[in-house]
Amino acid sequence: MEKVRLGVNLDHVTTLRQARNTPYPDLIEAIRIAEASGADGITIHLREDRRHIQDNDVYAAREVITSSMNLEMAATSEMQKIAIEVKPDYCCIVPERREELTTEGGLDVAAHRDRLRELVAALHAAEIKVSLFIEPNPLIIDAAADVGAKIVELHTGHYADAHGPHQQHEWERLNVAAQHAMQLGLVINAGHGLHVGNVKPVADINGMNELNIGHSIVSDALFVGLDRAIRNMRCAMDGVE
Ligand code: PXP
Repeated sequence: MEKVRLGVNLDHVTTLRQARNTPYPDLIEAIRIAEASGADGITIHLREDRRHIQDNDVYAAREVITSSMNLEMAATSEMQKIAIEVKPDYCCIVPERREELTTEGGLDVAAHRDRLRELVAALHAAEIKVSLFIEPNPLIIDAAADVGAKIVELHTGHYADAHGPHQQHEWERLNVAAQHAMQLGLVINAGHGLHVGNVKPVADINGMNELNIGHSIVSDALFVGLDRAIRNMRCAMDGVE
């Protein structure tokens, strides 16, 4: 069985930088360390409000990433233009509301069907692979396939927030959604709220291709360093002590 890929989201390295408007911590150094520590890909999210990643970070990251670059972005024409200029390997389309703390839900694909179809086609024409960040719901997966997406990223936030039997129930929703997506021939990624203590069951879902993990890795890095935090996550995904 192929190993599940680990995409490391480095947004919060720049959250710390933007808090003081300093040149440190350096995103480029973080990318180098992440790749040397086993990251299979680097994810950054250029938000409409530029609260962490800035436009020049996106261009600078493209220059140094040697694994694969995944640009998370809202389905706006501004982001479409930037993506086509930067040419990341992947774009993950996410919903965005200015006031939210983080990406709080999946895309409402049915409500934005026409715009998403147009955006997916434009990014594919620029040779960028596209994933849609969605709730683990078979109907939304059908809609994602219908607008031309070949990859879905399942939102694991409800799973991460739940406890005990509720968490098991949320895991089952993820599993059912993943099996449905696999039947449609879609590539399955997942992420949001994953940490070393809850990642393994998600990594074990049949057909899982990649997990995108940011907040917990950058948090752990404060205490053990970014390299150890990434290696620890890899071990947790693989069930290695
Ligand atoms: N995937 C997507 C689409 C996201 O928006 C985020 C959060 O930026 C993540 C994964 C990573 O979530 P977390 O930072 O909680 O690990």
